[in-house]
Amino acid sequence: MRTQVVILGAGPAGLLLSHLLHKRGIASVILERRSPDYVLGRIRAGVLEHGTVELLDEVGVGARLHAEGVVHSAVEFGLDGHRHRIELEALVGRTVTVYGQTEVTRDLMDAGSRLGLPAIYEANVLALEHVDSDQPVVRYAKDGTVVAIHCDFIAGCDGYHGVSRPAIPSAKLTVYERSYPFGWLGLLADVPPASDALYYASSDRGFALCSMRSRSRSRYYLQCSLDERVDAWPDARFWDELERRVGETVAAHLVRGPALEKSIAPLRSFVAEPLRFGRLFLAGDAAHIVPPTGAKGLNLAASDVYYLSEALAGYYRSRTERELDAYSERALRRVWASVRFSWWMTSQLHRFPDDSEFSRRIQRAELDYLFRSPHAQRVLAENYVGLPI
Ligand code: APR
Ligand code: PHB
Repeated sequence: MRTQVVILGAGPAGLLLSHLLHKRGIASVILERRSPDYVLGRIRAGVLEHGTVELLDEVGVGARLHAEGVVHSAVEFGLDGHRHRIELEALVGRTVTVYGQTEVTRDLMDAGSRLGLPAIYEANVLALEHVDSDQPVVRYAKDGTVVAIHCDFIAGCDGYHGVSRPAIPSAKLTVYERSYPFGWLGLLADVPPASDALYYASSDRGFALCSMRSRSRSRYYLQCSLDERVDAWPDARFWDELERRVGETVAAHLVRGPALEKSIAPLRSFVAEPLRFGRLFLAGDAAHIVPPTGAKGLNLAASDVYYLSEALAGYYRSRTERELDAYSERALRRVWASVRFSWWMTSQLHRFPDDSEFSRRIQRAELDYLFRSPHAQRVLAENYVGLPI
């Protein structure tokens, strides 16, 4: 088998890349270890930056997103129960759209099958060979048989636990990492959201987030310690704790309901550089992780694959590697901007186990400044809606 680009992974990064390449006349094959249903069963965030919506429109998968997604022109922050609304659209002329990552994935998969874009599921990539030559080979196992695909390029969109990043010799890769000393306990329920805007709440009991998937489905999170276990959190305990952290005005609108899903995720920042080794390019979670506080993970996956599709198109147009050479630096510039913003949001809103009273006062002063200063609000809004791609 032979194709121009082998894409590892059918998460948002791999799927969107296959569409962007198709639009640019480049053939690709996606190899995904799991089944489509498994991929669609993963619960992830769902805040789309303006630029991500534009990219989904560009590849013609925006129809359901515009019909069912909820456009948010503001976001709310809370400090000890006091609410402050930040008018994103009034401040920077842009909005975000709340539409679950699962739905984005489904739309990309469905449109891909309609267009006949090749995607092989339950295909476990075992090895990447001759990556630093111009004839790389990808070997995968499916139904007990090992198959080789020859290609010009490999796009490593196989997430944090994939095989592409480890295929790069460690001497050629630098890793930057920060783990945060807490996690998020998330709960999904079919109840109307407590607030019409996303609400990020800092309290002395820890951080809480009120989010949503639609007007009838809510997603809530509580900061928790890393050794917390989901089964120690029956629904009633979760709702009680959420009420305490969000403050009275939001708590008055909380509607309780049975959890459809409950899980704990650790928070970390991670970047591997550069995003290229020979003919292998990293994109999305394979290259970087951000804590969910800024909702940037999916959006960074989208901007990475946009830059990569442009760089590959440049190669096939000119047969020079100039644009391929620039991919890593171009993508990383935007990655680090979002890593910084997500780190800032995380640092300002959470309680840290070793917090001194001094650092808590600094956090409060920072949030107080944000609530009072239109300049600080504009900085937040510009980052929250997404820096230009
Ligand atoms: N062979 C084939 N597929 C693989 C392999 C392998 N050896 N290893 C991993 N994969 C697949 C996974 O099964 C997964 O479906 O790669 C895919 C990677 O998808 P994601 O983890 O969703 O990563 P990405 O597409 O970069 O999306 C980033 O996901 O985690 C969130 O916050 C993140 O929203 C962001 C988005
Ligand atoms: C979510 O809805 O899952 C969500 C929203 C905003 C975030 C993180 C997660 O910052």
